[in-house]
Amino acid sequence: MSRTTEPTEDSARRIDDHTRDVIGRLADGADRLTFPMTRSVPFGPPPAYAELRSKCPVAPADLFGHDAWLVTRYDDVREALSDDALSADITRPDYPQGPAGKANRALATSGLPAFLRMDAPLHDDLRRLVTRDFMIKRVEAMRPGIQGIVDGLIDDMLAGPKPADFFEAVASPLPNIVISDMLGIPHSDHEFFQDRTTYLFRRDVTDEERAVKLSELNDYVYELLDSRNANPDLDPEADIVSRLVHDQLRTGKLDRRTVQGIVFILLVAGHETTGNMTALGTLALLQHPEQYRALGEDPSLAPLAVEELLRYLTILNEPNWRVAKEDTVIGGRQIKAGEAVVPLTFSANRDEKHYDNPDTLDIRRGARDHLAFGYGIHQCLGQPLARVELQVVYSTLARRIPTLRLAVPLEEVPFKTDVDIYGVHTLPVTW
Ligand code: HEM
Repeated sequence: MSRTTEPTEDSARRIDDHTRDVIGRLADGADRLTFPMTRSVPFGPPPAYAELRSKCPVAPADLFGHDAWLVTRYDDVREALSDDALSADITRPDYPQGPAGKANRALATSGLPAFLRMDAPLHDDLRRLVTRDFMIKRVEAMRPGIQGIVDGLIDDMLAGPKPADFFEAVASPLPNIVISDMLGIPHSDHEFFQDRTTYLFRRDVTDEERAVKLSELNDYVYELLDSRNANPDLDPEADIVSRLVHDQLRTGKLDRRTVQGIVFILLVAGHETTGNMTALGTLALLQHPEQYRALGEDPSLAPLAVEELLRYLTILNEPNWRVAKEDTVIGGRQIKAGEAVVPLTFSANRDEKHYDNPDTLDIRRGARDHLAFGYGIHQCLGQPLARVELQVVYSTLARRIPTLRLAVPLEEVPFKTDVDIYGVHTLPVTW
């Protein structure tokens, strides 16, 4: 397996002339692409994706010095994400580590075993311990509470000065308050998490800066488990952390690092994602005022609107990269053991063979089969929760503040082109 930027003889031989032509044009003469590619501000994928889908759907790429294949079509992305020959295990020596600043690396060096980065069967065993907390029925029971949180945040925003930063006022605190309640940790730690989790996904900070933030987060989770464990009257039904400490840690079924890894991933995984999706989805609706109005007049559109916004925006540019444990075939292309595979869900969600007019936002579309939550065994555990939060926040905004609008020209909105999870740094709004 080559780790240089030169293609191996092997992979070069497997690229046919047609592929070489397409790639050469897109990559300025080179015979493989470089990745990642930059999204088109505000809501579009990198322009090359559409051409790759039609002319070279599984394309050779240089992934920070690692031989990789970009998978661009909807059907092929699903095939890749459900292929047991592909591993998500970041501790494998042949797993592509990415640039110094990549969250992948940060999470790996945290040394915590998180099931997001494991293969079956261990992945399944650990995920099962928290599956029930995110089941639809359980999450639906939380809807009135989530509605109360959203109403409270909007009340505070409306009572404050205009314009307001919607990201700071509503989008960022919402997922934090909800997951904090589920884990049994104080809301007042919000700013601490906001700052630390954002660092994990930024591309413009040094390894050292990220390591400091990461170890602060780790220390926090460590102390959280310690204080629960020290409580002689621990109620295992009080929250997820108490249950894990009671059932797993105290019984010795799991070691401390493994429990810490589960809590860590629950704390981090839903925060940046849902916060950015809330803000970016609101912006997309405001840019399509007739659809924002329609949602305000008919709240039953909310579930459809959420699926369409997830598809259209696909804020996670791609799920975690995979590496082939053995030779396999994706989309008809031979993948060799040790080569990386990047399933481009954003491209899949804009595949014209799967969705009519995929580049158009249509909140009535009914796009529930989108891949914004991934696919296969790692498909987002928190998706029922994210769905309810997003349904409540978009429909409440459209109903309560029909005059909501951007307070600055679109060009002045600071988009997160420098972060792995797309969104906005701030969203100045007025009403
Ligand atoms: C709009 C919001 C969200 C988006 C777009 C999103 C997206 C994703 C994606 C694409 C994956 C798959 C990663 C892969 O295959 O490598 C994933 C996994 C995961 N997500 Fe989410 N997520 C969101 C919200 C949440 C929330 C609220 C939680 C709750 C804690 C959560 C917890 C997780 C966990 C634990 C995993 C790992 C699942 C596994 O490996 O089995 N996510 N998410």
